[in-house]
This record gives sequence, structure tokens and C-alpha cells, in this order.
Amino acid sequence: MSTVKFYCPDQQVPLEMHKVRVVQKLFLPPVEERMRKMNEAGNNTFLLQNKDVFMDMLTDSGVNAMSDNQMAAMMQADDSYAGSETCNRLLKSIEDVFGMKYFLPAHQGRACENILAETFVKPGDVVPMNFHFTTTKAHITRMGGSVEELVIPEGLEPKNDHPFKGNFDIPRLEALIEKVGANHIPFVRIEAGTNLIGGQPLSLDNMLKVAAICKKHGIMSVLDASLLQDNLYFIKTREAACKYMSIREITRKLSDQMDLIYFSSRKLGFSRGGGIISNNESLILKMKALIPLFEGFLTYGGMEVRSMEAIAVGLQETMDEEIISQGPIFIEQLVKELDAYGVPMITPAGGLGAHINASEFLPGMPHDQYPAGALAAALYIAGGIRGMERGTISEQRNVDGTERYAELELLRLACPRRVFTLSQIKYCADRVKWLYDNRHLIGGLQWEEEPEVLRFFFGRLKPIGDWQEKLVAKFRSDFGDSL
Ligand code: F0G
Repeated sequence: MSTVKFYCPDQQVPLEMHKVRVVQKLFLPPVEERMRKMNEAGNNTFLLQNKDVFMDMLTDSGVNAMSDNQMAAMMQADDSYAGSETCNRLLKSIEDVFGMKYFLPAHQGRACENILAETFVKPGDVVPMNFHFTTTKAHITRMGGSVEELVIPEGLEPKNDHPFKGNFDIPRLEALIEKVGANHIPFVRIEAGTNLIGGQPLSLDNMLKVAAICKKHGIMSVLDASLLQDNLYFIKTREAACKYMSIREITRKLSDQMDLIYFSSRKLGFSRGGGIISNNESLILKMKALIPLFEGFLTYGGMEVRSMEAIAVGLQETMDEEIISQGPIFIEQLVKELDAYGVPMITPAGGLGAHINASEFLPGMPHDQYPAGALAAALYIAGGIRGMERGTISEQRNVDGTERYAELELLRLACPRRVFTLSQIKYCADRVKWLYDNRHLIGGLQWEEEPEVLRFFFGRLKPIGDWQEKLVAKFRSDFGDSL
């Protein structure tokens, strides 16, 4: 792909390679109301009502813009419980993209994780991975297993030029296998587009090395391909050896070496749903019976057939570099603008969204006042922008009940693909910059209601002191009657 170059170099911005044909009206409540809404929502952005949100940057999950071809395909969905033509079309698309014959449908990514953990994880088992994802870890620990994170040290440095900060630390993987023994490792999980460290990619070379180690030790390799789309783009643009390979070739080179791949189609394929795929029939047979038990019959697995048609087309569109570039180039623009304003960002820009380093944004705020959560609440108040806490609140407590402090306290500003315009991205950068200049006003949070499992989804917190009132007063004095 060649980037469209602008005649005036200082005007070079990401260019949308699509046009908007359906829109949704947005509302921005006044700042006083935003503070009230944030507190009604327990200072948890998951609990806000979307009608009160101007820019929904919570997630890229299930909220990416769909294409005209996807919508057209949805009209031909074959809505039958068993043996639907829709399922056959999806199978064909999966085989075409990944070269894998077997497919177990599931209602979304975590459902695949449930099936994998139920089938393969026993008490005392260890599952190595470059980095955990919240739901993945919850399913593995629920079965009595544990997670070992083996990302390279650069991955945990907020600023480091490494192009593939999600890479596995290969010597540590080998040492771990040596230490715990291959028979206690049900699988190695490779998470493309490493979510919790800022959507950071792995190189093709690194993933193939991990697969080779797995083969050598007879351990199953599992690719979480939920965020593969952005990762493919980064391989193409950052990995010299892949510069002349097509996205299809890169995908096949990777999938040919994986025993199992699972994905959330809320991300991969611009749709909803998910699935587990493989070329190894015996692995599939071990899991097969759980699909009708937990998900739905084998031809839909809890998915709505129209979503399945959209995945079939979305996977093909994922092979188009011009389409998959749109997420990363808009994220890069946001990161670039904020970085230039001096806001501490995770760099290089990754996929999924822009990530603010809340520890540095709010220096001195202890982990147990939840800097990333406090920043998320403050940004909603400042701009009606809904980000997601990806820090200590998103962690599980240790078994002894003590807090497990996150390695990185991040506020994630997801950029659902093809959803925001450039001026909205600029608005977001502007409000974050204002907040950064007023960061001394931001205080911490404390729990009001803390659920035991996946507490970040519906836990409630309250501000420590009256910092939010002060923030609102400063907003009014700086912005006058602006929303
Ligand atoms: N794996 C990764 C890497 C993910 O990012 C997610 C979801 C899942 C698995 C689970 O998939 O949501 O379909 O059940 N990430 C969403 C997010 C929730 O906002 O980052 P799911």
C-alpha cells in the first residue's frame, strides 16, 4: 500500500479510505451533568449510559463500522438452527484466509477461552503467554491453572522504540518449560496485538519461533487472533522481512504453524461472535461437545446468523491492507498529537487505541487510589469521552486478598475502526491536553462496591475528596459556556 501523500507536507494527516453513509447523532451533556452522571455510574466508565457519551472510546469490541458488503451479506443470512448455508459460507471464508478446516463457533472471544480452559487446563497447570488478557486469565485461574507472562522487558516500558513490544521473551519461555515441564503446560497462548500493554504487536518471526519451541516440546500452540488485524498491519509495515509479502501471505505463514486459533469477531472481522479453528481434528473433537452445551448448536454457537455472514465478509476485508490500515493510522495521529503536547503516551502507537500512561500523568498517586480509573473519570467529566481503565482496577486481587498492582496503569482510548472523524480525534486530543494542564486537580478513587470476579466491569467507586467539583469549576472558568 502506498500512503496518499499531501502536497503541503505540514498538512499530512491520515486519510479516510471510505465514505460515511450512515450516521448516528451524538450528544454532549454540560460539564456539571457529566460529573453527576459519572458519579451515578460509580466512577466506572462501564456503567455510563451511551446516550450521555460524546466519544465512546471504551472499546473496539463490537463497535467497529461495518462495510456495505457486510450489510449486503447479512441480508442473505440463512436462519436455520442446523446446517445453515451461512455456516458453510463462513467455513469457506475461514479456510480461505487461515487454511484451517475445522471451526467451532462461539458467541464471543471469552466463550472460546471458557471452552479451551474447560478442556485443557487442570489444577496446577501453567499457561505461558506474552501477556494476559482479563477474561483469559479469569478462565484459566477458574480451572485451577495459573498464567506466566513472558513479554520482552521493552513491552513493559511505556516509551521504547521497539517495533514489536508484544514479543515473547524466547529464552524465558524455554527456561519456563524446562522448570515446570511440558506436561504441566497445556498450551502456550500467543496474544496478537497485546491488549493490556497498549495494543502492541508481535513480529511474525517471534510468533513462528514460539510455535517452533512448542513443536519441539510437544506443547499445543494457541493464537488469540482477536487483535490480529492491527498486528498484521504492523508486521507488513514494521518487519523488514515481510515488506513484500501480502497480508494474506503473512496470515497463512502464521496460521500454518498454529495448532489452534481462537478469536473474538467483535474485533477480528468487524462483526460480533467468535470461534476456535484448527486443522487438527482430534483437538477439535475434545472441545466439540462443549459447544452445544455452553454456546449453541455447532452451526451457529450462540451467534446470530447475520453476524456470521458479516464475519465471512469481514475476514476477507481484513486481508485488504488499505482497510486494515485505517485503525492504526488514526491511533497514530492521536498518539502523535498527545505526545507533542507532552502527555505521557505509550509509544510507539499500537493497535486498538491510544494509551495514556496514568502513572506518569498523575505522578505520586498510589496504585490503591487507582490513577488510571481516576483519569478515566476525569476525562469523561472534561470532555464526555469514555475511555477504559486498564490498570490496577482491571487486575484480579491475589489469592490472599491483597491488591495486585498492575505493571502499567493505563487509560485506554479505543478507536473503533472507521468510526471517528479526524476532527473528533482532534477534539479528544484537545480535552486530554486541557486535563494534563490541570492534572494537579485530579484526585484518587476508593471502592464503594467491589465485586469478586472481573470487578472492573461493574464495581463502583467514589472520589476521595471534592476534586471533581474543583475540576468542573476550572472547566467553567476556562471554557465559559462551552459544552
Ligand atoms: N482476547 C483479547 C486479546 C481481547 O482483547 C478480548 C476482548 C478477548 C480475548 C475476549 O473477547 O470480548 O469477544 O469475549 N477484549 C475487549 C476489549 C473486551 O475491550 O479489549 P470477547
